[in-house]
Amino acid sequence: MSYLIALHGLLAVIWVGGMFFAYMILRPAAQPLETQQRLSLWARTFGGFFPWVWGAVLIVPLTGYYVAIARFGVMAALPMYVNIMQGLGILMILLYLHVFFAPYRRLRRGVESGDFVKAGHALVQIRQLVAINMALGLITIFVALVGANCTGSRFC
Ligand code: HEM
Repeated sequence: MSYLIALHGLLAVIWVGGMFFAYMILRPAAQPLETQQRLSLWARTFGGFFPWVWGAVLIVPLTGYYVAIARFGVMAALPMYVNIMQGLGILMILLYLHVFFAPYRRLRRGVESGDFVKAGHALVQIRQLVAINMALGLITIFVALVGANCTGSRFC
């Protein structure tokens, strides 16, 4: 069980940590680049990061639900922090699926075809959705760590 929770937490940290680095560090660092170079950099960056996110999107809920059932028995018996975690987790996964199949596809096609206006619009949308998902991820990790280590409250 502890290995599964560790794997669960590790993939969650790779996902949320990657979004944190992209939004808080790489985004301002790439700003001075010329538009075509900047859009190509982002297409390559997401191309390298998203396979890890697919790993997280598969492994985090699988390990989470396995541990939830093994530890708490039925879904109705889940403590509040696990319910918050799964609610925010499902929202994060849906947001990622939208990013991957919609603006990211437009960013890639725009860069490949040289349509940098289309790629630029797609990047703006990705940036906004990554900002939301990063915030949800940081809140979820905080809730998970407080919940798993607290006692004697309705929250845990
Ligand atoms: C998608 C549905 C999810 C389910 C069903 C789920 C379920 C769980 C369960 C049952 C635990 C063990 C709690 C305990 O040891 O008492 C756990 C731990 C944890 N979860 Fe989730 N989780 C989900 C999504 C997420 C997401 C999206 C994140 C972060 C972005 C996350 C981060 C964590 C962390 C960091 C821990 C370790 C807490 C600790 O043991 O100190 N989980 N999760």
